[in-house]
Amino acid sequence: MSLNSSQAVMYNDTVVRQFSIMAVIWGVVGMLVGVIIAAQLYIPELNLGLPWTSFGRLRPLHTNAVIFAFGGSTLFATSYYVVQRTCQTRLFGGSLASFTFWAWQLVIVAAAVSLPLGFTQGKEYAELEWPIDILIAVVWVSYAIVFFGTIAKRKVKHIYVANWFFGAFIIAVALLHVVNSAAIPADMMKSYSAYAGVQDAMVQWWYGHNAVGFFLTAGFLGIMYYFVPKQVERPVYSYRLSIVHFWALIFTYMWAGPHHLHYTALPDWTQSLGMVFSLILLAPSWGGMINGMMTMSGAWHKLREDPILRFLIVSLSFYGMSTFEGPMMAIKTVNALSHYTDWTVGHVHSGALGWVGLVSMGALYYMIPRLFGQKQMYSIKAIELHFWMATIGIVLYIAAMWIAGVMQGLMWRGVNADGTLTYTFVESVKATYPFYGLRLLGGLLYLGGMVVMLWNVLKTASQGQSVNAPIPPVAAHA
Ligand code: HEM
Ligand code: HEM
Repeated sequence: MSLNSSQAVMYNDTVVRQFSIMAVIWGVVGMLVGVIIAAQLYIPELNLGLPWTSFGRLRPLHTNAVIFAFGGSTLFATSYYVVQRTCQTRLFGGSLASFTFWAWQLVIVAAAVSLPLGFTQGKEYAELEWPIDILIAVVWVSYAIVFFGTIAKRKVKHIYVANWFFGAFIIAVALLHVVNSAAIPADMMKSYSAYAGVQDAMVQWWYGHNAVGFFLTAGFLGIMYYFVPKQVERPVYSYRLSIVHFWALIFTYMWAGPHHLHYTALPDWTQSLGMVFSLILLAPSWGGMINGMMTMSGAWHKLREDPILRFLIVSLSFYGMSTFEGPMMAIKTVNALSHYTDWTVGHVHSGALGWVGLVSMGALYYMIPRLFGQKQMYSIKAIELHFWMATIGIVLYIAAMWIAGVMQGLMWRGVNADGTLTYTFVESVKATYPFYGLRLLGGLLYLGGMVVMLWNVLKTASQGQSVNAPIPPVAAHA
């Protein structure tokens, strides 16, 4: 495609804007479904007695919506924003970037229709049936061409560390998706995995864990490495540490998957390998967290007045917390207690709401005014309100799940002197009930904050106008 002269000197911010707006909208939708399923666990009648609205079908709708629609749109938006600015060049591939936007939205709509209808491969986070999987692969290859094409035509020699993380995320997700989705189609919406038995489980959790490691972590670390220094107006604390962080993290994550399959038919040595690599993973994870946090050195006072910075920095605390908790849960004897309980759900959401959610919101609040030619968001007070609603929501959610989880684990292993079980299963369900109420309240607060954000974003957009930023002369700083 040939560019007209104004396009040639402008960044392609149109696609960034589209993905940013959709990230906020899908955030509201995905979290709303989260609140609905949390409510169903509290009031089962909310399943409505219909197959389409049952917990079993809405749960994967929730996970797909928050991870791939909200998280995915955020990652597309931020990576396209960052790669252009750090390479000081317009996105490569002309309308291919626009294709990634529309085709990704199509994937999301296809998921939103097919999951409630009950079409699923039954693999967690990889539920979508084969025709949608093929579309995902096409989008992903296009994404890689746009991203790496932009890196290839960069005007600055150095490739900034954020791009390394985005790049690793793109390559790893392509690999994971293609290998784990290998299947034999039976008809248009039904297929059988190419793997069987324990191999199938092993491949699935190699995928599942690295979906966490690369989709929910590496890409968001790319966000952290660009937006934290930008918002603090300081260089990243240690560039050397960021490089060590990168290589250590991507190497270690790949081996940790078996911690999802402790005490299963998986060979014991693979479980131990997964455990050891999970423990090692604490080091690079904390290295990254410390690097982000220490970027605040000498500027901690900014946290008091800047709510966007607060989103970014508190997200790092949750990142640190969940990457401490994860390795602990990977220890086999700890996992014997935590597995099958709500402790896992608590761990998931301290990472998902605390880390992925907050860092996304911080980056979106940074980009959106700039994408609409505004100095700042329409309402700073609303960002403050969002921050507190989200933070209190997370604390309620994860504290409820931790208590419920440990309680369930302990009740299930309680044994009387004569060897009989102390508690029936249903007693543990009854004991969990109040905590499901508390989680619902936390979820409602978190969702409420997201609705406030949507209002603020729409106000900012309607007040401003779509602007594509000019590409600065080469050698100026990104
Ligand atoms: C308003 C916010 C949210 C609420 C109320 C919520 C609620 C829930 C509920 C009730 C479940 C099912 C738990 C179960 O099966 O017992 C769940 C699962 C899950 N949610 Fe959320 N969620 C929210 C936001 C998010 C976000 C933002 C993400 C990711 C970025 C996320 C990722 C997940 C994942 C990965 C699971 C599956 C967990 C597992 O299999 O252990 N959630 N959520
Ligand atoms: C050093 C980093 C981490 C390690 C070693 C780790 C380890 C673990 C372990 C041991 C489990 C429980 C497996 C089970 O008993 O079934 C788990 C579950 C999970 N973790 Fe982590 N975790 C880490 C970081 C994170 C982060 C940052 C997130 C989110 C952004 C996250 C998301 C999840 C999810 C979604 C699950 C549930 C998977 C499922 O069963 O559906 N983890 N993790």
